[in-house]
Amino acid sequence: MSEARSTLHDVRAYREEESSNAEGGSRITFDLSSNELVLPPLPTVLAGIEEGLPRLARYPDPAARDLTREIARHLCLSDDEVAVGPGSAGVLQQILLALCGKGDEVVYAWPGFDAYPLLVAVSGAMGVRVPLTVSGDHDLDEIRTRVSERTRVVILCSPHNPTGTVIDHGELHNFLCSLPDHVVTVLDEAYVEFDRGGDPPGMPQVLREHRNTVVLRTFSKAYGLAGLRVGYAAGPRQVIATVRKTAIPFGVTRLAERAAMLSLRSEGELRERLAAVAAAREELTAGLRELRLPVLPSRANFVWLPLASAAESFARAAATAGVKIRACPGHGVRISVGEAEAHRTLLAALGRRNSRVGIL
Ligand SMILES: Cc1ncc(COP(=O)(O)O)c(C=O)c1O
Repeated sequence: MSEARSTLHDVRAYREEESSNAEGGSRITFDLSSNELVLPPLPTVLAGIEEGLPRLARYPDPAARDLTREIARHLCLSDDEVAVGPGSAGVLQQILLALCGKGDEVVYAWPGFDAYPLLVAVSGAMGVRVPLTVSGDHDLDEIRTRVSERTRVVILCSPHNPTGTVIDHGELHNFLCSLPDHVVTVLDEAYVEFDRGGDPPGMPQVLREHRNTVVLRTFSKAYGLAGLRVGYAAGPRQVIATVRKTAIPFGVTRLAERAAMLSLRSEGELRERLAAVAAAREELTAGLRELRLPVLPSRANFVWLPLASAAESFARAAATAGVKIRACPGHGVRISVGEAEAHRTLLAALGRRNSRVGIL
């Protein structure tokens, strides 16, 4: 049998080790580990999606042209500046496959979205991880230092998963100006709607000012369509043209396309929902702080506790109470904003734990 790509030797399939409703032997009632929304898709989407059901025997449009056009219009871009795909993780894979190969490097902050190492390995490139600062921010100076002749892509994430911090606009601008021409920056904005309280009309200046930048967005998070798998990249025409070539055929289903289009037309419903998520996030933050736990201010639908070596035991304690959260071993834990009942259950369990064994 021929050998697999060498960069795949040390990576596992995405979340291979997880089971769906048990964590370390504990029965899970609430899952706050994946930054999903606990609300259903927007009402307009639920009401309108059925229209696509009778046509499921047919393949979808391979280029998802209606959605591409709608996104482009929404962002004041042209159609050839947008590529849609099966989730933003799928689109990121397309980008890396299009731009990178053996011997190339992809630089990103760590801890970060846990699919980055795998997607980089799939492309054949090597990942270069740059530690976050103590405040949970990107260390842009260090990232710049690690950019070399071999670097093809830099991935930035704002709001950042897992810390919820955002990159300052001025610092982003200076950073992008400092990069050499052979480097494409992917700005992963999976959580941007939570930060801005909605999806602003018109793409951020960043695409017009920086020709080598691609913005990555998703319908999985604020729009609540994680189960349908649809996301997109917006960027320079030449990059988008190659990114489309690495797509799997028919990667965006008809239902996903329709749901995403309806989502974009439901700005008012989205805003209501984002306000509810922000309020729940602040309540969760306050509850954790009352227990004298360290919580970073978050601009996304999750919070981050920089617990360092206590991260895993903390996540185990949460699982014992039936609440699954995400541990980044050695760094901290990430808790997604969830149902009020999930927050109450978690806080009660942590309160009992505090009184028994101290803060951590
Ligand atoms: C930072 C970041 N980017 C991208 C994704 C991928 O989202 P999707 O593939 O569902 O669009 C996630 C999912 O958790 C994420 O946290």
